[in-house]
Amino acid sequence: MSDGVEERGLLEALRASGLLKPGEGARLQPLAGGVSSDVYRVDTAEGRTLVVKRSIPRLRVAEEWLAPVERVAGEVRWLKLARSIDPRLAPKVLAELPEAHVFAMEFLEPATHPVWKDEMAAGRVDPAFAAGVGRDLALIHARTAGRADIASAFDTYEFFFALRVSPFLLFTADRHADVAPRLRALAENLGRRKIALMHGDVSPKNILVGPRGPVFLDAETTAYGDPAFDLAFCLAHLLLKTIWLRPQREAVMTSFDALRHAYAAGLAWEPPEDLSVRAAALVAALLLARIDGKSPAPYLTDPADKAFVRRSAKALLAIADLDLDGLAARWRHEALA
Ligand SMILES: Nc1ncnc2c1ncn2[C@@H]1O[C@H](COP(=O)(O)OP(=O)(O)OP(=O)(O)O)[C@@H](O)[C@H]1O
Ligand SMILES: [Mg+2]
Repeated sequence: MSDGVEERGLLEALRASGLLKPGEGARLQPLAGGVSSDVYRVDTAEGRTLVVKRSIPRLRVAEEWLAPVERVAGEVRWLKLARSIDPRLAPKVLAELPEAHVFAMEFLEPATHPVWKDEMAAGRVDPAFAAGVGRDLALIHARTAGRADIASAFDTYEFFFALRVSPFLLFTADRHADVAPRLRALAENLGRRKIALMHGDVSPKNILVGPRGPVFLDAETTAYGDPAFDLAFCLAHLLLKTIWLRPQREAVMTSFDALRHAYAAGLAWEPPEDLSVRAAALVAALLLARIDGKSPAPYLTDPADKAFVRRSAKALLAIADLDLDGLAARWRHEALA
């Protein structure tokens, strides 16, 4: 993941930004995750702790997957914008070095800011926290909806296409001829809708459980587009966790409902039913993509589970005008029975 040369480069970048004093040393430790970036915890000789993140051009998944390293600038812009809505929503950016594709941000202690996915995996499934995620996501979407200035500052659909549309929807379409037209139509519609600012990677792995609510990380896939994508992306993760975390499946499903209802309560920019129908189709598509796309869910390994998700996703994709209520009812009936 790293070698001495890369680490020296990062330390030089930190010195150039003034975060490290001339001659001051620092210890770098890779943080968990890191499919698309090098992420380090940095402890400086003078006792400060921060995080540095650098985009890498080839993602660490089994399939070949290249992505433009310039996406780091979009992540920084997203983190700052989220903090301008409420400082609680994202870590503070401390320095930007766009030419090195690096930025630094404050380090949030895992003891007080555990990763949401880890919390659920440890059996601590809290629907009230999920409701907070839905509420905050709707807040960010509501504040950015219909804003031409934000749309032009986040004209980064090219990155979203490379990191989301192509590897999830189009790659999966190439493997499943029976639903390919549906998946390609969803991809095309995503490209057309310029409604609000997407984060692009709203996954429990990228959300910290902070003392004052969710903290969102990892916004390198941000682009102005369809807010239904963010909602669907997170909801699809929760549905897969009803399979993975069998003993907690009721609480995870309650979290699913809490998240979507809290989101709907903050939805003011378009008719809620329109967004619900778009989100339900994307949830179904993303479920299939998490089995057969370029970034499969690493925790779903049982062939029977995979076959179940494939079958369910295709059945859901076939229902015209399915909304999130309908989708939740069917999932409860089929996956939780
Ligand atoms: N500011 C921070 N404070 C504390 N921990 C952090 C911070 N930023 C990142 N992390 C930790 O590092 C992990 C990886 O960070 P991030 O998600 O930004 O990188 P990534 O390479 O884009 O990840 P992936 O592609 O695997 O989702 C996070 O899941 C989190 O555990
Ligand atoms: Mg991440």
